[in-house]
Amino acid sequence: MADSLTITDNRTGETYELPIQYGTYPEYGAAIRCGELRNIKVSEDDFGLMAYDPGFTNTASCKSSITHIDGERGILRYRGYPIEELAEDFSFLDVAYLILNGELPDQSASETWESEITNHSMIHEKIKKFMEGFKYDAHPMGMLVSTVAALSTFYPESRNVEDPDVRALQIRRLVAKIPTIAAYAYRSNVGFPYSYPDNDLSYTGNFLSMMFKMTERRYRPDPALEKALDVLFILHADHEQNCGTNAMRSVGSSHADPYVSIAAAAAALYGPLHGGANEQVLRMLNEIGHVDRVPEYVKRVKAGEFRLMGFGHRVYKNYDPRATILKGMAQEVFELTGRNPQLDIALALEKIALEDEYFVSRKLYPNVDFYSGIIYQSMGFPVEMFPVLFAIPRTIGWLTQWQEMLEDGDQRIARPRQIYTGEDQRSPS
Ligand code: CMC
Repeated sequence: MADSLTITDNRTGETYELPIQYGTYPEYGAAIRCGELRNIKVSEDDFGLMAYDPGFTNTASCKSSITHIDGERGILRYRGYPIEELAEDFSFLDVAYLILNGELPDQSASETWESEITNHSMIHEKIKKFMEGFKYDAHPMGMLVSTVAALSTFYPESRNVEDPDVRALQIRRLVAKIPTIAAYAYRSNVGFPYSYPDNDLSYTGNFLSMMFKMTERRYRPDPALEKALDVLFILHADHEQNCGTNAMRSVGSSHADPYVSIAAAAAALYGPLHGGANEQVLRMLNEIGHVDRVPEYVKRVKAGEFRLMGFGHRVYKNYDPRATILKGMAQEVFELTGRNPQLDIALALEKIALEDEYFVSRKLYPNVDFYSGIIYQSMGFPVEMFPVLFAIPRTIGWLTQWQEMLEDGDQRIARPRQIYTGEDQRSPS
């Protein structure tokens, strides 16, 4: 057998042949089936060998045709299309359609999709009342997580996850309602009246309207800021099997409905190791306070006192393609919103770090969060909204991954094994 792995179990001297399977790229996605390891036993009643992989750092949990990342070469593609081209030429909703359906929409499909989403942007008035129950200083991400879960009680038919038509409807509802819930969470916190969706605006234009509309009859978003937010949404729409997506697939694998599954995915995203890094970048820039203090700060990073937030990535080891797009866009946004003093600190920090042996030898480059936080802040979003701004576009990625999981005959309820290290049977007496 050519494409196989030969394993010799030195406990028994037995040899096993395990077939190797590939994805689209043989050099990036070769795997054995872990189930095959179970045949490797020392005796008939032995359970068989398992694979120990905390944090799933080297476990392919699924086959997927949605997003491809090549971290060494700084590549991110949705359905085969480079992120740079999608960000340049398409709207977020068209990219969402691509992620969900596998192909970019033609004009008629694009219009139908947009009107379907628009039709579902309102939320039940009882949901609005539900949101009023939160304390005045509730974190908007906590509000989003709980409110999305509560939607499950409004759409009980959503439990029928095996029906493609039911799924299609819930996907549209969720993509449409998440921005409304997100904006209501913000308005509730600051004490402003809710601003209902304006269906004549684009997806991102409407979100800006629900966030920032005050006494004007119609809110008209600045087209450049609307485009910038659209690009940010495109860059965050999917990122294959990260912590939040894994939560979505895992909870969804029990056939829980998509609302509670999205709540679980958003809860995973809420954690500071996942969706919270851009907030940390801003806190770091505030702490540095002035360009003159950058060299001293970098020195302390190199001494191991703390990490440079917004630098480094588990997967991207040369550059994060999303950061490259955002770096260019940050300049354009600041021309409109006024130059954010934190950008000067960020650029000085970036310059030193890119030339410094410590960062170069460890392949530490700015990641997406290095720029997204300062852009969001200059657009007027409070720091607490940053993870919420991540969850809105990631919803289509979560839902597409969920649907792919449900349609994949290989998938079963997610139920890992463990290596028990506790006591052997004993008696309390
Ligand atoms: N600043 C200073 N040193 C760093 C940093 C950093 N930001 N990141 C890694 N290192 C050093 C680390 O100390 C280690 O050095 P040594 O070999 O001397 O011990 C080496 O680089 C390798 O680090 P690691 O922890 O093994 O790398 P990792 O791949 O496990 O961690 C990371 C990836 C993103 C968690 C990490 O780089 C980090 O903590 N960055 C700062 C937080 C951040 O910006 N997170 C956002 C990630 S992008 C958002 C997303 O896509 O989800």
